[in-house]
Amino acid sequence: HNHIDYATPEKVLAAIRSGDTHPRIPDYQRFAEYQAEGGYRRLAELRDDGDPEAVQDAMLESGLRGLGGAGFPTGRKWSFVRAAGGTRYLAVNGDEGEPGTFKDRHHLEREPHMFLEGMLIAAWAVEAETCFIYMRDEYPAVLEILATEIAALENAGIVAPGYIDLRRGAGAYICGEESAMIESIEGKRGLPRHRPPYVAQVGIFGRPTLVHNVETLYWVARVARFGPEILNSVEKNGRKGLRNFSVSGRVEKPGVYLLPAGSTIRDVIQAAGGMAMGHSFKAYQPGGPSSGLLPAKLDDVPLDFDMLQPHGSFIGSAAVVVLSDQDSARDAALNMLRFFEDESCGQCTPCRTGCEKAVKLMQADDWDTDLLTDLCDVMADASICGLGQAAPNPIRLVMKHFSEEISSPSNDIATKDAAEQSLAIR
Ligand code: NAI
Ligand code: SF4
Repeated sequence: HNHIDYATPEKVLAAIRSGDTHPRIPDYQRFAEYQAEGGYRRLAELRDDGDPEAVQDAMLESGLRGLGGAGFPTGRKWSFVRAAGGTRYLAVNGDEGEPGTFKDRHHLEREPHMFLEGMLIAAWAVEAETCFIYMRDEYPAVLEILATEIAALENAGIVAPGYIDLRRGAGAYICGEESAMIESIEGKRGLPRHRPPYVAQVGIFGRPTLVHNVETLYWVARVARFGPEILNSVEKNGRKGLRNFSVSGRVEKPGVYLLPAGSTIRDVIQAAGGMAMGHSFKAYQPGGPSSGLLPAKLDDVPLDFDMLQPHGSFIGSAAVVVLSDQDSARDAALNMLRFFEDESCGQCTPCRTGCEKAVKLMQADDWDTDLLTDLCDVMADASICGLGQAAPNPIRLVMKHFSEEISSPSNDIATKDAAEQSLAIR
């Protein structure tokens, strides 16, 4: 780790303040307030005489899964990293770039220490030598809050200077892909790596690395402090746990809503104050553009991990965008593919060329569904990382559920006329 240039809170603060950004710092819970409420007591107890195995079991029992979007069981990740010997690292993925996702920002701008304590508990459990926080630069207030509060932790002697290394992303969506993020932390261009090996075995500078999303660590602190019941005692529609939904689009009150994980889109819309005035529910993006678009008729499916796969989608980071009768599903899907085209790192052909080609095909009045289906298959099967593998989802789901939007009525009539004429001639 000699070649790591550690970022100090002072360096980060100076860099933010020297830039053009003037973050509005919200009224968040400071170190002293968090500590007064019992914060960092659990961490101290665990560091004193805690059993990492028992805490890992509590995570498994709680059912906590990775809340960046993939839902990998948190306790299992710990077991992989703990089993690996030598120097280990922890890296926090704070590059919340999925369009429609803002739950991590929500927590960090309110309770940064709940997240920081969770991170330090996870770091203790896997004996991480350093914690890297990779935070997106588009959250200047969060960067300033974290730099200030990390300095408070250093001053209080809870962490040694440099133990938490706050890194700033540079606006690339792909750097939220964990291996691209690791490349970026190492100072290289953010290109995803092939998996396996997984980062739990070969991560930062080739060392085993525990990678967690911000919200996952927020829940690690809560489970460690209040027990697994805080998650597993909540049950709805046969599903256990809680989920923070980032809700936007045609709803009355967009925002972050904490609901049971078994909630349906109807529950989510209701929590967000119902549909916006004058709009009726037509479709929804359940978890970021990679989850595509589902029609309003699929309104009784619990929006939990594994529940949307039979419908060709997934809940991902629970970034719900609600569309109404005034929106076009094909335009929304085209917008998603334009996003993927922009953000593709260009490393592999199926994704680089595939996104570009898909955008061209989707601009036609009538979609060439055979060609698009072939293209989707190649992209999903042959792309290196999740971006290219999931980019076809919006296309596939619009072809499946909104077919009336992808062939122009005028052409339909022209085709019908031609068919009738040809019958008449015969
Ligand atoms: P993944 O399922 O491949 O991996 C999830 C995690 O489990 C990773 O940390 C991976 O290293 C680990 N893992 C999986 N199998 C493993 C094994 N056998 N051994 C050890 N570790 C293993 O999913 P991926 O590609 O990391 O994430 C995709 C998700 O990210 C999507 O669901 C998408 O919704 C979400 N996403 C979220 C964004 C956000 O802003 N929150 C942005 C973009 C995507
Ligand atoms: Fe890059 Fe796309 Fe290939 Fe991922 S799938 S490595 S983003 S080109």
